[in-house]
Amino acid sequence: MIRLGILFGGRSGEHEISLMSATSVIKAIDKEKFMLVLIGITKEGNWLLYDGPVEKIEDGGWQAIAEAALAENPEKYELIVLGSGGKSLKDRIDFAFPVLHGPYGEDGTIQGLFEMADIPYGGCGVLGSAAAMDKALAKEVFAKESLPICRHLKLHKEEALRDIDRTIHRVEKFLPYPIFVKPANMGSSVGINKVKNAEELKAAIIEAAKYDRRLVLEEGLDCREIETGILGNHNPVAAAVGEILPSEEFYSYKAKYFDGGQSKMCIPADISPEIAEEIKSIAIEAYQLLDCTGFARVDFFLERGTNKIYLNEINTIPGFTKFSMFPLLWAEAGVPYPALIERIIELGFERYEDRRG
Ligand SMILES: Nc1ncnc2c1ncn2[C@@H]1O[C@H](COP(=O)(O)OP(=O)(O)O)[C@@H](O)[C@H]1O
Ligand SMILES: [Mg+2]
Repeated sequence: MIRLGILFGGRSGEHEISLMSATSVIKAIDKEKFMLVLIGITKEGNWLLYDGPVEKIEDGGWQAIAEAALAENPEKYELIVLGSGGKSLKDRIDFAFPVLHGPYGEDGTIQGLFEMADIPYGGCGVLGSAAAMDKALAKEVFAKESLPICRHLKLHKEEALRDIDRTIHRVEKFLPYPIFVKPANMGSSVGINKVKNAEELKAAIIEAAKYDRRLVLEEGLDCREIETGILGNHNPVAAAVGEILPSEEFYSYKAKYFDGGQSKMCIPADISPEIAEEIKSIAIEAYQLLDCTGFARVDFFLERGTNKIYLNEINTIPGFTKFSMFPLLWAEAGVPYPALIERIIELGFERYEDRRG
């Protein structure tokens, strides 16, 4: 039986989201086919083996249970992340499924660790993960291939903050309000603000700079938010196309996770078949450009009035609860949740074999 390592938690601001996604994955996995090895990563970055109740993952209770188990029986629970011998990650699992969002989970760092440890894993590799995570770099690549993206500007933190008034002046010359200010490497709308004047712009730049050395500023579109899911290595295919109807002015962190379910999803999106096809084809092209493998969700903006399509970003480990957009898009396309997880595992093994071949 395949020993499937499910990694959850993590060092990112999206730790809690990961706990929810992982709980769904753990519950759905066919235990006849896979032996689960649960590995929780604390916010400080400690890796802990966990064999307590699944219900204790979402509320964070798992950590104390795992720490107590380790203290009581180090022989059984010790985990050596990189190394050999019975307690090493490589010897404890046959496949790693990082159900982690944001920095240190979705950005190529943990993928590099799996490569070093020679462990097959689910989702994108090092390059695809890192490239998709970095909004500034991804935009550069998309623009080179003439994929449709919105007007934007990149800023370096030090340079932007050195003379903030001059920075504001420069931004205003290039972009009309409203402007979106984002850290280049984050997720879940953390550190992102929509601003309508110079004063807000200044505050937003200072805030985004807390999260990253590089910032991306974009023209704010009046748009609908359209997403599709991709699966595959050599021949990626697209799922259905869905729409997010945020409960707030934009799809902020609060609207994503803390609005009591008021943000809605519409699957399939109420758009013409032509637009849906165009979105799928751009999504596949973008996925391949960034060297994505396994799976990813590709997000778009559809401008109101003009119906102009803009590619926004690729999420290489999108929200993965049973009720998240990515699994629902695949369910709509005929791939139910447990089968989706198994397909991701298959694709991970396939890529591992490819690299060795
Ligand atoms: N250029 C833009 N025009 C209009 N809305 C935007 C723009 N950029 C971001 N948004 C809004 O902010 C949300 C988060 O931005 P996004 O770039 O997707 O970051 P994250 O990686 O945190 O999801 C989007 O889902 C959308 O609601
Ligand atoms: Mg997004």
